[in-house]
Amino acid sequence: MSEKKLPPSIRIVEVGPRDGLQSILQRIETADKIKYIDLLSSAELPEIEVTSFVSPKWVPQLGDGAEVFAGIRKRRMTVYTALVPNTKGLEAAIDAGFRSVAVFVAASETFSKKNTNCTIAESIARLEQMQPIWKAEDLRVRGYLSTCWHCPYEGKIDPEQVLPVIDQLFRLGIDEISLGDTIGKAQPDEVAALLQRLPKEWAITDFALHFHDTFGYALSNVEAGLQHGIRVYDTSAGGIGGCPYAPGASGNLSTEALISWCDDHDVATNMKLDQVRAAGAFIRSLLVL
Ligand code: HMG
Ligand code: MG
Repeated sequence: MSEKKLPPSIRIVEVGPRDGLQSILQRIETADKIKYIDLLSSAELPEIEVTSFVSPKWVPQLGDGAEVFAGIRKRRMTVYTALVPNTKGLEAAIDAGFRSVAVFVAASETFSKKNTNCTIAESIARLEQMQPIWKAEDLRVRGYLSTCWHCPYEGKIDPEQVLPVIDQLFRLGIDEISLGDTIGKAQPDEVAALLQRLPKEWAITDFALHFHDTFGYALSNVEAGLQHGIRVYDTSAGGIGGCPYAPGASGNLSTEALISWCDDHDVATNMKLDQVRAAGAFIRSLLVL
């Protein structure tokens, strides 16, 4: 494929406070999470995923989501999102004051079971139960699709397994679908192979990409995404984290790395790199690595 011109700008979704912190066993104080997010807000990020409302038995680190959201300074131009697995989590996020939520399903059956204790079909049925609530509340809804290229349990995932799940997410009226390389194993040609298979009737502007950087492929994968017209990328300040149910996965592509790359390539992010660096340095300073 011939190289296309880079876009004038991209949007970054900061997932550090959720994806970054969720697998860290060391307890991070609520006040420190608030400070981390306040630093991120002051970097003028367009969207921050603040926390999740999942079972605290499954992810103890994020059991204080409501307190964190109550404590942060909310910037008017930033969308604050909570990750929710089911109706219980959705209602908790609404009670806490969130107007934007992210739901999540997987393309691999084994990962679905390990991460959410249900099959892919059952996870879609959970979303069907949640849909009347998010519609009635007029929430913005993001949808993650994990293991789009590789599964920690099943290995390589074929695009044929991914496309029908995307279709089901769109049928539920989900606004933006983030395709996840959960364990950071995908390479640019694999990313391109899936993106080339997306049917033309799906708007490419409704997609985001979510790369973990376990093997250092994440930035090259962003370049592959840009060549296919994708403008939204999930990152975490400090590059921290991973999924507790995806053994071997490391943190997301770091927000600092993506902004620096964009600065070098004249792609605008409209974010304050120094403040993102301060947020990343702060959270990393707390971690016993
Ligand atoms: P389950 O055990 O099957 O749930 O877990 P259940 O419905 O049978 O309920 C069991 C207990 O959990 C009950 O409490 C429920 O009330 C409680 P008990 O009666 O035993 O005291 N419960 C909840 N509590 C608080 N909030 C809730 C909630 N739901 C049930 N929302 C469940 C099913 C989905 C809850 C569980 O599997 C779970 O919480 N999984 C989440 C795991 C997770 O957070 N993984 C990481 C996020 S996904 C990710 O990182 C990937 C992503 O970054 C993209 C990528 O990289 O690919 C998004
Ligand atoms: Mg992730």
